[in-house]
Amino acid sequence: MAHAISVEGLTKRFRRLQALDGISFQVDRATVFGLLGPNGAGKTTTVRVLATIIRPDGGRAEVLGHDVVHDPESVRASIGLAGQYAAVDPNLTALENLRLVGQLTALGRRALHERAWELLEIFGLKEAANRPVRTFSGGMRRRLDVAAALVHRPPVLFLDEPTTGLDIEGRRELWKMIRDLVQSGTTVLLTTQYLEEADRLADRIAVIDGGKVVVDDRPESLKARLGTTVLELTFSDEPTALDALTRIQSMGIQAEAERELVRITTSDSAAVLLNVLRAVDVNGAPPKAISMREPTLDDVFLAITGHHAKAREDQSRPVLSSPQPKGAP
Ligand SMILES: Nc1ncnc2c1ncn2[C@@H]1O[C@H](COP(=O)(O)OP(=O)(O)OP(=O)(O)O)[C@@H](O)[C@H]1O
Ligand SMILES: [Mg+2]
Repeated sequence: MAHAISVEGLTKRFRRLQALDGISFQVDRATVFGLLGPNGAGKTTTVRVLATIIRPDGGRAEVLGHDVVHDPESVRASIGLAGQYAAVDPNLTALENLRLVGQLTALGRRALHERAWELLEIFGLKEAANRPVRTFSGGMRRRLDVAAALVHRPPVLFLDEPTTGLDIEGRRELWKMIRDLVQSGTTVLLTTQYLEEADRLADRIAVIDGGKVVVDDRPESLKARLGTTVLELTFSDEPTALDALTRIQSMGIQAEAERELVRITTSDSAAVLLNVLRAVDVNGAPPKAISMREPTLDDVFLAITGHHAKAREDQSRPVLSSPQPKGAP
């Protein structure tokens, strides 16, 4: 079966900044594909190329077999886009916003009316249908934004950071709606900065950084490479941390030190923690603090690239002095 989205060697330059530097990936139909990356990685640029808002400099991209450069009309007819910033009009009601979007589609008046109410129902906005959007919470606005992208029932949906700024409840609601859409056959490409979100939703995750795909894998495989828990031990100073690192590594446990911090990524946290504490207790220099947490996007970067995920927002501006990032060679 042909892919819903196919991207090959995509490049895009903004003045001196290579925003996309040869991006390639494929998205199967009726799946969620997660584009995960820090600020400035090229997520929005990729989405904008796929949504035919901007033209790439090189490479090729197809949505449902339609080329984004040579056949943008066919691409536009098959996609819905909820951009990074809510595009709904705050002075219109929810219903009016959906109608406005619908007028740009081929739907007749009656069909549009029915579709608008159907979406308000699906997205839990029926009661708020006739309220101006400026009175909505952030979560309600975001849901309406996604609803607006679905008026013409597009088989492919782009969601650019759909849950940024939402609380955990709002996120869970939106995650459920996205899962339901995919269940009914929609293909979703979403961008996010949260590993947790990509992990919960995506069938496949591409981590991008500096306009390049760093890794493209299933969440399970990604996590198997990463471990499920990150243990961090903070020592009083760097020499003590290095000493602890040596002891921990001599037990066959993978760990790394960064100044006074020792970081261990594991899938067996309880046993590993116990062994680690025994090992470092020998010289009477226990850690000052211990934390256990789920891996983040930054941990993925550390594990895969050996460096932290760093934001790259303002590189299109002239660089007067270029400070060395921490840990750069
Ligand atoms: N129209 C433009 N003109 C100049 N530079 C741009 C333009 N659009 C994007 N960029 C730059 O290209 C790079 C990639 O931007 P992009 O918006 O794709 O990142 P992103 O991964 O979506 O980041 P964020 O998480 O902050 O939304 C950034 O360095 C950005 O400043
Ligand atoms: Mg963006």
